[in-house]
Amino acid sequence: MTRRKKIYEGKAKILYEGPEPGTLIQYFKDDATAFNAQKKAVLEGKGVINNRISEFVMTRLNSIGVQNHFIRRLSLREQLIKEVEIIPLEVICRNIAAGSLSTRLGLPEGQPLPRSIIEFCYKDDKLGDPLVTEEHITAFNWASTQEIDDILAMTLRINDFLTGMFGAVGITLVDFKIEYGRIYDGEFSRVILADEISPDSCRLWDTVTNEKLDKDRFRRDLGNVIESYTEVARRLGIMKEMPRVIDGGVA
Ligand code: TMP
Repeated sequence: MTRRKKIYEGKAKILYEGPEPGTLIQYFKDDATAFNAQKKAVLEGKGVINNRISEFVMTRLNSIGVQNHFIRRLSLREQLIKEVEIIPLEVICRNIAAGSLSTRLGLPEGQPLPRSIIEFCYKDDKLGDPLVTEEHITAFNWASTQEIDDILAMTLRINDFLTGMFGAVGITLVDFKIEYGRIYDGEFSRVILADEISPDSCRLWDTVTNEKLDKDRFRRDLGNVIESYTEVARRLGIMKEMPRVIDGGVA
């Protein structure tokens, strides 16, 4: 058996060479990190759940015309994706004050924002993913003005869609982080959604109780992390009943 070629290993995912040129295999690990990997744990079954939730979300976004890297799920922890040239930005969209926005501007967590706010962070772990402006992005050629316009429009569309999708199952979308990449078609390139959308990269609160159903449970030592992720999957109809997560698989 030949060993698959590892292209990149991140904190929560590994990318392997795909079966055809222009494809990659995205593997979801159980590893969880927070505060730039100062806090670490293995949450058994997280990779399986995030693979399924991200598949679900990307498939639905594709059906409303939000182009993204997802091709198909291959196994419990793996999905086939389009290879993209990652734009080195974390694009954050916020509807309700929480996390670093609350800290930075002194806003109480849970305060609705006057309108959805999009922020850009430069993807660099050594620097702690600093907040940057469009000026930095264009000056350093991380993305063009046209690409920024496309990213802003797509992000607002994704926010509207996800707000409705989660709202329908009693979950409030507080904020989320997404990443984009370029795919080339001859000399032209297009920006598409990449990475993942899961409780690792969103703040999701129960609409009635405001209970947190996302990675803040890990960041803030609230316990029941996997149970909460599973609850999100269950409400979306992905896992019909609470699965037992065994040996990284789902029974
Ligand atoms: P923040 O309030 O800590 O800046 O986080 C905003 C959103 O981005 C929140 O939904 C969590 C998500 N996020 C990531 O996906 N990766 C990260 O490294 C960080 C810091 C936040």
